[in-house]
Amino acid sequence: LQPRDLAEQPSTSVTENMPKEPFVIGVAGGAASGKTTVCDMIIQQLHDQRVVLVNQDSFYHRLSEEELARVHEYNFDHPDAFDTEQLLCSMDKLKNGQAVDVPIYDFMSHTNNVYPARRVNPSDVIILEGILIFHDPRVRELMNMKIFVDTDADVRLARRIRRDTAEKGRDIGAVLDQYSKFVKPAFDDFILPTKKYADIIIPRGGDNHVAIDLIVQHIRTKLGQHDLCKIYPNLYVIQSTFQI
Ligand code: CTP
Repeated sequence: LQPRDLAEQPSTSVTENMPKEPFVIGVAGGAASGKTTVCDMIIQQLHDQRVVLVNQDSFYHRLSEEELARVHEYNFDHPDAFDTEQLLCSMDKLKNGQAVDVPIYDFMSHTNNVYPARRVNPSDVIILEGILIFHDPRVRELMNMKIFVDTDADVRLARRIRRDTAEKGRDIGAVLDQYSKFVKPAFDDFILPTKKYADIIIPRGGDNHVAIDLIVQHIRTKLGQHDLCKIYPNLYVIQSTFQI
């Protein structure tokens, strides 16, 4: 894009009135990899933008009475555990400037009807976070930037044991059984294979402050380019995967 071309384009005062489509960032990675910390740090550093976080957990299918009675046999790490149609419907509304009510998932009762749903308003930036957020191509297509949080399996397991026993009131034996029966196989079969879709891969999750700083700088640049692309549809943005 040459300065001359820029000069010929509409002034920013014209474009300020154009409806803005949100910039969508996907954050995937294994359970307890540090996705939430990464998202929180991005949100903190993008304080001057309107940013909302949407968790894939909110879209877990409602379990039947029989499934709830045998919940230890339920695979919460399989792509079929999520209501992706509902997620797509909510995202479609948000992208079109409509507010949506997103359920809050309760890990103790395995349901999403304990708490009132959270009203999510249309924003400049939407962060979609979850273990399998890159699995469905239709969800991937919504994203302007994809981040994969890449944390060693032993660190993820150690965190999971601590968190599930302390915060979810679970027994350590049950946590280990669930890990070997469902969590590890699903990571290998469904989560790890989606790493190839990431634009950015960050090791060590929220501990990686340098990576978060670089990502936030990159998001700011992309937000600028994103606006430019809406104003100048013929502007090409070259994007490649990189590892920090
Ligand atoms: N899960 C569970 N019980 C449920 C529902 C989900 O134990 N009733 C577990 C799944 O087994 C899955 C994990 O929750 O492995 C997904 O949680 P995730 O969204 O990844 O949250 P975190 O592990 O907190 O992510 P992070 O630490 O990376 O922020």
